[in-house]
Amino acid sequence: MAYEYIKVEPDPPIATITLDRPKVLNALSPAVIAEVGQALSELDADDAVRAVVITGGPKVFAAGADIGDMAERSAAEQLNRDQTGAWSPISGFKKPLIAAVNGYCLGGGCELALMCDVIIAGDSARFGQPEINLGIIPGAGGTQRWPRTAGKFAAMEVMLTGGMIGARRAYELGLANKVVPAEMSVAVAQRMARQLAEKPPVAVRLAKESVQKAFETSLAEGLAAERRSFYFLFSTDDQKEGMRAFLEKRKGVFKGR
Ligand code: CAA
Repeated sequence: MAYEYIKVEPDPPIATITLDRPKVLNALSPAVIAEVGQALSELDADDAVRAVVITGGPKVFAAGADIGDMAERSAAEQLNRDQTGAWSPISGFKKPLIAAVNGYCLGGGCELALMCDVIIAGDSARFGQPEINLGIIPGAGGTQRWPRTAGKFAAMEVMLTGGMIGARRAYELGLANKVVPAEMSVAVAQRMARQLAEKPPVAVRLAKESVQKAFETSLAEGLAAERRSFYFLFSTDDQKEGMRAFLEKRKGVFKGR
């Protein structure tokens, strides 16, 4: 499919999605989110792709939802169109999703990064939730994912002040897995995506699902779900291959079944 606001580059076993609306710092209009959602849905269904990188390119990740699109909307309009409900193909993506973040990563842009599984921050990255300055609060998960990621007090600080934090502080808070020179962030994310693409895909999917569950259920329910997935994986060829390969001192080759 042809896209207007994003670039999608499949390079099996990975793919890279680049937000491409530079004039407005990759502001995430409903059309942009629809395209990202469509691309991710297609990549989820494509067995040749096992991990995806999402980036805004070398200068900016995304400066948030499109303020021009929202400024004059009524509450009823926002409720009826469910602006941020359209983000669910992103949060629901089942394969590893790695964000390569450079420059501004604000508002909905930061919430998009927080929906990913790994964040590689370029040293120019600046994270924040400036919604408070617009008379709103984050609406795509920011108030929930920030405290679960960086703790209550950092979350309160960014949410209430609307200020930004740099890449190093984000790393210290656990909001970024690595900080690298900005020009390397996409390549580092792609290298990691290739590493993940070599792992057994069913186990990768269930590992992602299990970690996500930790944020959504009680410990007892999470442990029970983990145990079910653990036992289930013994029905896959990849488990047999993985364990035999270990015993035979060779590298496992995984087929995703
Ligand atoms: N929506 C729409 N347009 C935006 C935008 C946004 N979120 N962010 C930047 N732009 C546009 C600017 O209007 C400007 O357009 P023009 O050239 O046509 O005037 C262009 O991008 C460049 O921006 P600036 O001139 O402002 O660039 P700067 O370097 O001086 O400042 C910035 C950069 C600090 C990121 C500043 O643009 C800014 O504060 N942007 C808004 C950030 C924000 O408030 N994000 C939250 C949005 S609400 C949200 O995301 C809700 C949600 O939870 C889903």
